[in-house]
Amino acid sequence: MKIIGFIASPQKEGNTAWIVNKILEGAKEHGGETQSWYFSNLNIKPCNGCLTCVEGNGCIINDDMQRFYKAFNEIDALVLGSPVYMGQMSAQAKTFTDRLFAQITPRFSPRFTEENAGKKLILAFTQGNPDSNMFQAYFDYTKKMFQMLEFDVKGVHVVPGMRNEPASEKRGLDNIMKNIGSSLIKESLR
Ligand SMILES: Cc1cc2nc3c(=O)[nH]c(=O)nc-3n(C[C@H](O)[C@H](O)[C@H](O)COP(=O)(O)O)c2cc1C
Repeated sequence: MKIIGFIASPQKEGNTAWIVNKILEGAKEHGGETQSWYFSNLNIKPCNGCLTCVEGNGCIINDDMQRFYKAFNEIDALVLGSPVYMGQMSAQAKTFTDRLFAQITPRFSPRFTEENAGKKLILAFTQGNPDSNMFQAYFDYTKKMFQMLEFDVKGVHVVPGMRNEPASEKRGLDNIMKNIGSSLIKESLR
């Protein structure tokens, strides 16, 4: 199984990068082929709303999303990691998500193709607040939004309390995250 972890945090060695990489590590230990993509290493511009993609020839913005679109065709699963910023995904995660519009559309769209439907998705959030239910309505909504885009959402994982202790120092989190990655592989073998 080929998996991309997309780290939509400006912090390359922050909490989000740590949890996404642990999930990938768990998957890799069970035979997954993994890659980490860091938004902050990439040139990804916001969607310009030109709607050229609707005509069926892809996105016209010449940046690193072109590489991602190619890579996306090859993968089975995406792990999208984002810090919670002001109760929502980061601007980086939203920019990335908006750019998926060129490649992924809901079933009711005239340009829907089965080809890109049904990829597995794990959403992984970190947040400063210790209450993991604080933004539950937003996480539920976001899950539904990705399901509408025909992702097979395997989980929405929220790691709270980052204001007290970074992810890397939370006891047991290492194994919890790795198990999420290994479960992704084990489930696909069933
Ligand atoms: C601009 C900004 C906004 C934030 N907003 C929230 C928030 O609304 N709720 C929350 O619990 N934490 C919030 N945080 C804390 C981050 O979600 C938290 O520190 C996260 O783990 C950072 O991830 P990173 O290390 O990958 O950058 C915010 C942090 C920043 C920088």
